[in-house]
Amino acid sequence: MTAAPSQAPAYERSDWASAFRNVGQELEAVPLTISRGSLPAELEGVLYRNGPGRLERGGQWVHHPFDGDGMITAVRFEQGQAQLSNRFVRTEGWQAEEAAGKVLYRGVFGSQKPGGVMANAFDLRLKNIANTGVVRLGDDLLALWEAAEPHALDPDTLDTRGLSRLDGVLKPGDAFSAHPRFDPGHHGSKRMVTFGVKSGPRSTVRLMEFAVDADAAAGIKAGQLLSERRDSFNGFAFLHDFAITPNWAVFLQNAINFNPLPFVMGRKGAAQCLSSKANGQAKFWLVPREGGSHAGEAPRIIDAPEGFVFHHLNAWEEGEELVIDSIYYEDFPSIGPDMDFREVDFEQIPEGLLKRCRLQLTEGTMHCEQLSPRCCEFAMVNPGQLGLPARYAWMAVAEREIGNDPLQAIRKLDLLSGEATVWSAAPRGFVSEPLMVAQPGASAEDDGWVLCLVWNGARCASDLVILNAVDLSEQAVLELPLAVPHGLHGSWISSS
Ligand code: CO
Repeated sequence: MTAAPSQAPAYERSDWASAFRNVGQELEAVPLTISRGSLPAELEGVLYRNGPGRLERGGQWVHHPFDGDGMITAVRFEQGQAQLSNRFVRTEGWQAEEAAGKVLYRGVFGSQKPGGVMANAFDLRLKNIANTGVVRLGDDLLALWEAAEPHALDPDTLDTRGLSRLDGVLKPGDAFSAHPRFDPGHHGSKRMVTFGVKSGPRSTVRLMEFAVDADAAAGIKAGQLLSERRDSFNGFAFLHDFAITPNWAVFLQNAINFNPLPFVMGRKGAAQCLSSKANGQAKFWLVPREGGSHAGEAPRIIDAPEGFVFHHLNAWEEGEELVIDSIYYEDFPSIGPDMDFREVDFEQIPEGLLKRCRLQLTEGTMHCEQLSPRCCEFAMVNPGQLGLPARYAWMAVAEREIGNDPLQAIRKLDLLSGEATVWSAAPRGFVSEPLMVAQPGASAEDDGWVLCLVWNGARCASDLVILNAVDLSEQAVLELPLAVPHGLHGSWISSS
């Protein structure tokens, strides 16, 4: 018998909002004590997280937390011990604003410079805030922000080496996605597959594949560009994420409009000028991958369901079918110019719902079904199954089974049976993106751990929670001597 879903939200807004703050310290390899449980001996590597670490300057708050300066948090696991470091990315904008002690740039999500419309109109400079994702490529840790180049950091000290053009792959100001996908070896060796998009009445997607490991025999360096292609499509494209299979890179072009006038006139941020297109038709763009059986062919275009997608869970191929699981919102969630993000009414904004689309590649048709009614975000499969059929998914979910709330729990979903297991941080805890780390040498797909930074509203600081990926039982909790605001994406780099 299942319990009836509780109707009242299980959190206090003040606990959730207490995570929006400035990070006032930078820690260097501080040894951590384990508050509960014990660290798994086989867990060796570094957990990297990125997200906004500065949300206010000179008394002025960002309009949206996505406009906050990027800060990297790193927890290194070695011989049963853990160490914590955190560093702001030394972007040009961060350094200039640190020196000035005030806001000098507008933000994409609506943050304005002081001085009202007159001070903001026609200032179309982008502040690369390096706050969205963090991955290892070659000798660099890359802090990613999709509208411009990545920043390269030292993976050990987190010192900023500078803006990276990836050995000439990027030109100044080139877009570079914050959502690389790591191909676990669909064509032999591991690759980082990613993209850059240039949007307009026609939009161009540049698909790039990089070597993850060096191959001395083939003369390939770690981090070297192996292949690229460019494809143009009709219409404006807001592409935050994508999915890969052995043969395809899959993009979902949301049906949205971009009207830049309020941005140019200084009334709105660029991202606030996006709106759902009435009667618009979303599209899947399937770009053939290098090394796959359709390499060199033209892309395929297939209608996509209604709704707005930021993130995909996974995609895979079944004969002539491509299956892609994604998180859909009924509408594009934007925070208008007169709203305070800390006061957002969760009931008034649509929840993210996991849906599955089956694309018939020969007929060009699509069938879509909802996989679960529970509000979710930040979903992933075992990294070794990326682009392949995966049985299990781990994701952040709301505490309530129905309705939109902040993310407070981690859910493991069996995609075959629909069975789910939940670990919850409610009522005072708020989860970030969970990362599934596979146990080295494991044979079972769910053998490993789930690592998650949790905002602890009672302590007003962050906890690192390590769960057993099989049953989501608590393996260890580390109460960090650091308060990390609600963040974005992270990655795990294994020592082995
Ligand atoms: Co994202």
